[in-house]
Amino acid sequence: MKLFITGIGSGLGKALAEEALSRGYEVYAMSRHLPEGLRGKVRFKRCDLLELEKVYPAVVELLANVDSLDLVILNAGILGKFGDTHDVPLYEMERVMDINVWANKVILDALIDLNIPIRQIVGISSGAAVNCNRGWNAYSISKAALNCLLKLYAREMEGTHITALAPGLVLTPMLEEVMKQDEDRYPSVSRIKESPKRTPEEAARLLFDTFPRLFEFDSGSFVDVRKI
Ligand SMILES: NC(=O)c1ccc[n+]([C@@H]2O[C@H](COP(=O)([O-])OP(=O)(O)OC[C@H]3O[C@@H](n4cnc5c(N)ncnc54)[C@H](OP(=O)(O)O)[C@@H]3O)[C@@H](O)[C@H]2O)c1
Repeated sequence: MKLFITGIGSGLGKALAEEALSRGYEVYAMSRHLPEGLRGKVRFKRCDLLELEKVYPAVVELLANVDSLDLVILNAGILGKFGDTHDVPLYEMERVMDINVWANKVILDALIDLNIPIRQIVGISSGAAVNCNRGWNAYSISKAALNCLLKLYAREMEGTHITALAPGLVLTPMLEEVMKQDEDRYPSVSRIKESPKRTPEEAARLLFDTFPRLFEFDSGSFVDVRKI
């Protein structure tokens, strides 16, 4: 079994790569950082997804000798500057869109052009795609756009099952950043603090158990693990 995953430097992506290895996957990964514990265990291509022009050749190089993929996880993502949309400059919002949306467009184009059969693609989305709570500005927009992007590709990639999957609350550096924000101004912050959360390792196990169940949903669907 072969997995291609983006963003394994920390948090959920690192735990997903570890879980995949423990389940016998051969792991191909693209990220800026390769954690110590994954050295020598994954086929790794260093890539900063902000440098969009380097993403396509990086995918092609990493997957040059791969004849099929069982699973692709588009995990890499950034929160961006938390705060009111009015206060966030456009260039900051563009960075979030570049990593959370456009890098995934480039990756999917490269995967199609490589002509590798792919059984399943899961894009890591978020409840923020539909909640649009105060403070989440570009992140919410980017995850809504990601859901739409994946639905569009689902119509074009007929042999591949695609899902935008919200993983629930996971205690990662990204969520820790959210929990530092002003609870009075941004009420979703206190709701998150009070809600149950999973460790990245628990979430990775849950997600791997969930991937086969995603075939019950139409390709292109947005699914929240908390609702199935
Ligand atoms: N934590 C949650 O509760 C939660 C909830 C809903 C959705 N999510 C989603 O889950 C995914 C993982 O987030 P996380 O919570 O695990 O946060 P995280 O610990 O901040 O992880 C972000 C990941 O994205 C990669 N990344 C960031 N910037 C990158 C860049 N410029 N180029 C390449 N890779 C980059 C990082 O790897 P490198 O540093 O190696 O580049 C890292 O592995 C994201 O898509 C996030 O939106 C998380």
